[in-house]
Amino acid sequence: MNFKQLEEACENCQKCPLGQFRNKVVLERGNRQAKLMFVGEAPGGREDETGIPFVGPAGQLFDRYLAAAGIDREEVYVCNILKCRPPQNRDPLPAEQEACMEYLRTQVRLVKPEIIVCLGRIAAMRLIDPDFKITRDHGKFYKGSFRMCALYHPSALLRDPSKKEDTLRDMLAVAAEYRKFV
Ligand code: URA
Repeated sequence: MNFKQLEEACENCQKCPLGQFRNKVVLERGNRQAKLMFVGEAPGGREDETGIPFVGPAGQLFDRYLAAAGIDREEVYVCNILKCRPPQNRDPLPAEQEACMEYLRTQVRLVKPEIIVCLGRIAAMRLIDPDFKITRDHGKFYKGSFRMCALYHPSALLRDPSKKEDTLRDMLAVAAEYRKFV
């Protein structure tokens, strides 16, 4: 599957009930040849309206962390576990994640990043370890087929600013790892 086929498959997807309610599929933003990929949880309201991941309040905060670490938002690839918005922004259900994972696997296969950074516990539990504890394990690097780590989700920082200091440290560590590849 290439990017065009992936876009078409997502546009037509009705593999889970969220497909009936979306305004727009939210597939990706950024550089399709990026060495650094960020994976969030699921689109929110602004993302559902625009079709672009991380453009709402959480996304704007995320962009500030990228900038603070000297990373241009256009040079990285950003996507989510789910491509459609869950109602009232509730957590993605396991069945919804399962239905959508094939699209993320295709994104990883096409982009071929060196580093995958999960934003929040939902992505970390799905991609790194089902027992991942974000308060305990954020900022740790895991080596498998890719270098992986997880940061607090930017929405969690909006709710609890005391997590911001740790997140800046984690993002700086991600940037240092990333610079080994660019
Ligand atoms: N939260 C996410 O996890 N992803 C988005 O795209 C927006 C908010």
